[in-house]
Amino acid sequence: MCGIIGYVGQQKAVDVVIEGLRRLEYRGYDSAGVAVVAGNEVQVRRRAGKLANLEKLLAEQPLPLSTFGMGHTRWATHGAPTDRNAHPHMDEAAQVAVVHNGIIENFASLRAQLEDGGVMLASDTDTEVVSHLLAQAFDGDLAEAMRAVCRRLEGAFTLVAIHAAQPDVVVGARRNSPLVVGRGEGENFLGSDVSAFISHTRHAVELGQDQVVEIRPHQIVVTTFDGKPADVKEYEVDWDASAAEKGGYDYFMLKEIHEQPKAVADTLLGRIDDDGHLQLDEMRLSDEDLREIDKVVIIGCGTAYHSGLIAKYSIEHWTRIPVEVEVASEFRYRDPILGRHTLVIAISQSGETMDTLMAIRHAREQESRVLAICNVNGSTIPRESDAVVYTYAGPEIAVASTKAFLTQIVAVNLVALYLAQVRGTKWGDEIIRHIDELAAMPEAVDRVLDTVEPMRALARELVDAKAVLFLGRHVGYPVALEGALKLKELAYMHAEGFAAGELKHGPIALIEQDLPVVVIVPPRSRKVLHDKIVSNIQEIRARGARTIVIAEEGDDTVAPYADTLVPVPAVPTLLQPIVATVPLQVFACELASAKGYDVDQPRNLAKSVTVE
Ligand code: F6R
Repeated sequence: MCGIIGYVGQQKAVDVVIEGLRRLEYRGYDSAGVAVVAGNEVQVRRRAGKLANLEKLLAEQPLPLSTFGMGHTRWATHGAPTDRNAHPHMDEAAQVAVVHNGIIENFASLRAQLEDGGVMLASDTDTEVVSHLLAQAFDGDLAEAMRAVCRRLEGAFTLVAIHAAQPDVVVGARRNSPLVVGRGEGENFLGSDVSAFISHTRHAVELGQDQVVEIRPHQIVVTTFDGKPADVKEYEVDWDASAAEKGGYDYFMLKEIHEQPKAVADTLLGRIDDDGHLQLDEMRLSDEDLREIDKVVIIGCGTAYHSGLIAKYSIEHWTRIPVEVEVASEFRYRDPILGRHTLVIAISQSGETMDTLMAIRHAREQESRVLAICNVNGSTIPRESDAVVYTYAGPEIAVASTKAFLTQIVAVNLVALYLAQVRGTKWGDEIIRHIDELAAMPEAVDRVLDTVEPMRALARELVDAKAVLFLGRHVGYPVALEGALKLKELAYMHAEGFAAGELKHGPIALIEQDLPVVVIVPPRSRKVLHDKIVSNIQEIRARGARTIVIAEEGDDTVAPYADTLVPVPAVPTLLQPIVATVPLQVFACELASAKGYDVDQPRNLAKSVTVE
């Protein structure tokens, strides 16, 4: 949510900044802006809309040559997505420029104080107050001014600033919002995430909470908001720039859908130790702690929440520990019952989702143990958790989550099996057998991808449909929710997922002639579930629905009731979401593309939601 880049070095800053913004645009695309400092002057160009608009402006009004600069791509919170609200924001004397990600919660009182002091604000944003406060606090040292201002701010923020009177430095600060430093040779970078500078360096410095960083071409200095030297962690990014390119696909989403076999395989790599035991990345919880767990609570948002719903089935089945699943944004406000023996599992691709972050903080305040399932190394949620299981999906650029979802399903199964191992609810050989079943998933997903063309054709056929319903039972229910979410966010269509058995309690009234209904059929081995859903398909078909049936290969029993049959490989029930979701991702992607929508950057959305 909002992308930020800062640069100091020997290259033309505006080029480095624009390239970084292109990689960060998935974080928000309401406006874009760039600022450089040259000849003791700060100059800004900014424009509402996508980055292309800013590039056009820069072609008409080029910036002076400078090797110090910063940029921003916006997801609007305070103030409409207009030119005047686009970042960077400046003070009245145009000495300082600021970009910001997050929300400054006390901005109204700060704004009132500034206005009482005679300052004229030029935008509706919360960010602008920071530029005026920095200008007032500046006494020759921008980092010192930044620390003083940050101590007055409440809320979540990443800030990056430059000052005309100190043209050799770019200063950043963070509280509850992401900011990473890239260490280059004779050049350094700031970025909302490493993709901002990945084509220049893979050496990254992770900043902690409430820290200020000054970057110069040969120096990185990090302090706390009180000015004390701060501890930082350096690490190497384990993917390169090509991972953040489209690689010949029309959309990042399509590329990421096709990367799923590898993402699933990578998430499984190295999980069995020499003694044949399952091991996880950073399990900083002792076996004793895990044996004492008497309840698991899973939290996440959107797609991550759906993988949490799937996790409930595996964890309860293999460990017999009761599991609750909740959307993170609701969690802490209902005073949940938590304690030392509650394991809270936070699922987040980005590791920065504010609702999830606030939920885990609440859980830790109640002394619960927190385990993060996350895709971004070093992001805030895993850093603030007691244990981490990383999903190795690589960078997910498309706003709609695909490969992260599949790897989250793998990760929750690994966690379930790990708990079963530690608590002795499964024998070692059973665990290995389940790991082997997981190991067969990359090939199964590959097969789905090879046979998914009819789903594309169907999507093009249904381009004018008014609504689509999705039905599932057991783990097929979260898959139905995920299929509907993908269609809503990409094709802007009314789409709903239901538990198939719940349909008769109301939603069946929605069925009308030719309404497309996608049904996820459980494996035939689950006979009771399977028979029930076959009845459900007949019920909706009798009422005129057009049935699109996703069922395991060779399931002839459903064929007579399917207007379109989408076969997927036969896999164990708990793993069926891994194969059954893929056709739904392709369907949504193709339908959005057929409607002429921007698949990678759907309207109103941003990839990493760092506001509550
Ligand atoms: C949907 C989607 C969102 C995210 C949600 C959580 O395609 O991408 O629903 O899943 O915003 O994001 P993370 O996983 O980064 O916490």
